[in-house]
Amino acid sequence: MSQGRVLLAVSGGIAAYKIPDLIRALKRAGHSVRCALTPAAGRFVTPLTLQTLSGEAVRSELFDPAEEGQIDHVALADWADVVVVAPATAHLLARMAHGLADELVTTLLLATRAPVLVAPAMNVNMWENPATRENCERLRARGVWFVGPESGLLACGWEGEGRMAEPAAIADAVERVLAPPSLRGETLLVTAGGTREPLDAVRALTNRSSGKMGFAVAREAARRGAEVVLVAGPSALETPPGVERVDVETALEMREAVFRALPRAGVVVMTAAVADFRPAQREQHKIKKEDLAEDAGLTLELVRNPDILAEVCRTPGTRTVVGFAAESRDVIEAARRKLRRKGCDLLVANDVSRTDAGFDTDTNAVSFVWPGGDVEELPLLSKAQVAAHLLDRVEKLREERA
Ligand code: C5P
Repeated sequence: MSQGRVLLAVSGGIAAYKIPDLIRALKRAGHSVRCALTPAAGRFVTPLTLQTLSGEAVRSELFDPAEEGQIDHVALADWADVVVVAPATAHLLARMAHGLADELVTTLLLATRAPVLVAPAMNVNMWENPATRENCERLRARGVWFVGPESGLLACGWEGEGRMAEPAAIADAVERVLAPPSLRGETLLVTAGGTREPLDAVRALTNRSSGKMGFAVAREAARRGAEVVLVAGPSALETPPGVERVDVETALEMREAVFRALPRAGVVVMTAAVADFRPAQREQHKIKKEDLAEDAGLTLELVRNPDILAEVCRTPGTRTVVGFAAESRDVIEAARRKLRRKGCDLLVANDVSRTDAGFDTDTNAVSFVWPGGDVEELPLLSKAQVAAHLLDRVEKLREERA
């Protein structure tokens, strides 16, 4: 456990009533905690409570001479090893996304060079609003960490996503942010997303993979100090900070990009949903039904794509190779067979028949299937958490082999 200096920025949401518990969890973990409040935060939790639990003066004004006299706001921003924003309201996220510095908390957030972890809390409609979505994407792209929000009954009476993560989960996330760069010196090659196999000038065969799992692995690996090459099928997701991204469309392009980066890679994680087949030929122009006999169907001839993962596993070297398997039935047995057939070091199996896991969700329920036959089943987690568990296992494997 790394003991750090946590600057806890509290904004004005009802979830602020949980902040005393968060302070206690952080103190129990050995961290020093200082609190800064937005003007509205003090309506939901008293500065006196926070001061008593943190054992430190609480700041809420940017220009109060008494507060500035104790420690000025830039010194406070510099003091932090991590800034935790909890609860982070929609308004605060918007102000962060736009780099405003209109009161103490936003000014601290702009001034700090420490990593920032936000725990959003708001009404589900505010959370799902495109404005909030865009603001969060921007913040993620800048390297801001997120924990939650979770689904459940909201204080406003609505039910849905928007509850602040529990204090224990926020405290866990702080540990992850403060963890040392354990993959420094490693190069990771990650594939993500689906491939798109063109049929004619306008149509293509593809699948529902969003790329979220692979992007989460790339983000986590970069955060742990690795050099990361992310070979991505078509995806609108933002490139995680510090990641080298290679965009590809087809399985053949993906294979080429993978083999180009492979000599550098000590670890390969293949989350991509690669099309197993592609049209035998790509028509230069759009196939028109008018060119076919009335009522005639159309038969496509498909040919096999290379199995990139199996080819990587057959390529001599000391790299660690992780495969993914999306299965809709007999998940574990299918994954065991796949692991044997492909020859990878670890296979991550997920059940895509669930609605809360697999394609295009933010959460995933996976099992790690090991060559010896052992299976480790993980609970439903965010894809970021799955990525962290996966890289913990990869690090252990690397250590054992070294
Ligand atoms: O055989 P299946 O597609 O289920 O295997 C999934 C695993 O194999 C994933 O890790 C995926 O990225 C990889 N794969 C590949 N090339 C293919 C098919 C799958 O690299 N043509």
